[in-house]
Amino acid sequence: MSLNTIDYPTDDLPFQLTPYSPTIGGEISGIDLRQPLTDDQVEGIRAALLDRKVLFFRDQNITTDQHLDFARNFGDLEVHPFAPHKDGYPEILAITHDRDHPGQENGWHSDVTWRQQPSLGSVLRCIECPSRGGDTLFADMYAAYDGLPAAIQELVEGRLALHDFEGFRARLRKRGATEAELEDFNKAYPNPQHPLIRSHPETGRKGIYVNAAFTKHIIGMEREESARLLAILYHQASMPEYQCRFHWAANSMAFWDNRACQHYAASDYWPQIRRVERATIIGDTPFYTTEGPVANMAESPFRGRIARQRVEPGHSLFKS
Ligand code: SIN
Repeated sequence: MSLNTIDYPTDDLPFQLTPYSPTIGGEISGIDLRQPLTDDQVEGIRAALLDRKVLFFRDQNITTDQHLDFARNFGDLEVHPFAPHKDGYPEILAITHDRDHPGQENGWHSDVTWRQQPSLGSVLRCIECPSRGGDTLFADMYAAYDGLPAAIQELVEGRLALHDFEGFRARLRKRGATEAELEDFNKAYPNPQHPLIRSHPETGRKGIYVNAAFTKHIIGMEREESARLLAILYHQASMPEYQCRFHWAANSMAFWDNRACQHYAASDYWPQIRRVERATIIGDTPFYTTEGPVANMAESPFRGRIARQRVEPGHSLFKS
C-alpha cells in the first residue's frame, strides 16, 4: 500500500491558522467560503487538516450550495441512507434538536463506520445554536493510540472489529419502518470489518478506529474479552489531553477528518434549539500496515504526560 507524500507549506499558508490544542484543532481565518477556493487554498486546507485533524471557520454566511461546493473540493459526497436530509439536498444531513428531539450525537464516534468505505471527512455548518452549550468535542485518535500501553498496542495490532448501524435501526423502527424494509437495509449495508487500528491513507499515522456508537465486537475474540478491550480503546477518546472543544455560533463551520479523530456533540442545552447541517465526504476502505508515517510530514505529535494504570495481558481486565 503506498502512502502519499505530504507537502505542508506551514510558513506559507494562504490563510491564518490558529491551533486549538497541542495536537488537534485549528481555526482558519482569512478565507471567504462564498468564493470558490483557489488550488492553493484547497491544498493548504488539506494539509492543515492532516496535521490538525479538525479545522474551524467562523462567520461563513454561505448558501447550502456553497457548503456543498466547499466539501466537494475534498472528494465526492455521500447520501446518508437513514438520517433525514435537507429538502432538495440529499447530500445535506439536517440535524435538528429541540424540546421534542433532545440531542443524541453525544457519544464518541467517527462518522458512518458501518459503511464498507466510511467517510473521509465531514463538513458541519451551524444554522442555529443554543445561547449556551451544544459544543462539539473532538479527540485525536493518533494521540489516543500512542498513549496506549505497549501491551495493548501489541494485543490490538492487525485485529479487526465488526461495525453495525444498530442505533439507526432503532430510529427507523420509531419512524415506522417495517421489518422487511429493515432487512433490505441490512442487505444494502452489510456489516463491515475494519481494523481496530487504522493506518491513515495520507499521513501513514496509526489511530484507534473503533467507536462506541458503531463497533460491535472484535473478530475472533471471546465476547467478554472483546468488550473489555473495546472499553479500554473507547476510553482513550474521553481523555481531555487528546481533545479540543469547539463553541458554535451561527455560520460557524467545522471540517473534520473521520480517519484521524472522533467527535462528540454535547447535549447540554435542552430544551433550546440546535440546528446544524452536514455534508459528508466519501472515504476509502480502512487498512492497517506496519509501515510508519510518511517521511516529510509536518505534524504536531502529542508530548503531554499522562499518569495511567498499567494494563498488561493477564491483568483482571483480560480475565474472562
Ligand atoms: C455529528 O455527529 O456528525 C454531528 C456533530 C454535531 O452535531 O456537533
